[in-house]
Amino acid sequence: MSNNKIIIDCDPGHDDAMAIFLALGNSNIELLAVTTVVGNQTLDKVTHNARAIMEFVSANDIPIAAGCSRPLVRTIQTAPEVHGTTGLDGTHLPEPKLPIDQRHAVDLIIDTLKSHPPKTITLVPIGGLTNIALAVRKAPEIVELVKEVVLMGGGYHTGNRTAVAEFNILIDPEAAHIVFNETWPITMIGLDLTHQARPDDQIMETIAALNTPVSDFVVESLNYYTAGYRRRNGYTDHAPVHDLCAVAYVIDPSIMETIKAPIDIELQGALTTGMTVTDFRHPAKADCHTQVATKLDNPKLWDMFIASLKQLAK
Ligand code: BDR
Ligand code: CA
Repeated sequence: MSNNKIIIDCDPGHDDAMAIFLALGNSNIELLAVTTVVGNQTLDKVTHNARAIMEFVSANDIPIAAGCSRPLVRTIQTAPEVHGTTGLDGTHLPEPKLPIDQRHAVDLIIDTLKSHPPKTITLVPIGGLTNIALAVRKAPEIVELVKEVVLMGGGYHTGNRTAVAEFNILIDPEAAHIVFNETWPITMIGLDLTHQARPDDQIMETIAALNTPVSDFVVESLNYYTAGYRRRNGYTDHAPVHDLCAVAYVIDPSIMETIKAPIDIELQGALTTGMTVTDFRHPAKADCHTQVATKLDNPKLWDMFIASLKQLAK
């Protein structure tokens, strides 16, 4: 059995789907639960997508629970310009039949943590942090139970939704503030890192050549996602597959370089709300519990992903 037990909290989303495939196809990961949160699309749509993705690769025994349908304080912001009106536009998954766990995502997260030995489960949030914040408010004792929080969100240099704020943090900055101010170890895999996580034409051809239902889905999905990035941002290369990086780090932390640094969330900026303010002024103190990812081994990421896709096709 794998050493890396994880819970993915997500808002699928094209890159969320890739992160789920990577986890399911890698023998170093045991995916214990998938929880959903409003983000790329409304809660009902991202939950439908999570069920469809899991059923598509026959992951029928892993609980999926729906979480928060709105942020803690702010109004809902979704990302149809990135992921379309369904959250997975450009793809064609069958209507899912997989049942939804009757618990709220927050309760599934807490129950899963409490039913395993302490510090054996990594939380992998790849959407807004609403569910994780509520879980730790409902059951503060989970801070000591979690092995690590490895999240996709933020960035110490630049934003995407605003000049300095990344989408997952911006949509619920109060939740992010709660999560970053708990003492659990946090690895922030932000835009500085994920903007390095781009396939190239050759990688896309290698995926297409697998010629399986899942590889066909990946190609359709990433082609749609990249077309949007190119249209909006004037990119000529492929779009960064952000969420994939968080799972890759859990599988093999040597895939990226990290630096310990204090991080806090801007809540009241006129221009900077949702910024993950990272303090690089001094070497981090011994009790610093946050680190940021800086440099990615991108070829290794895609080798890892393609290996998972092959495994899922068996
Ligand atoms: C993040 O925002 C979402 O659109 C993606 O799924 C990813 O989690 C990137 O900023
Ligand atoms: Ca996401």
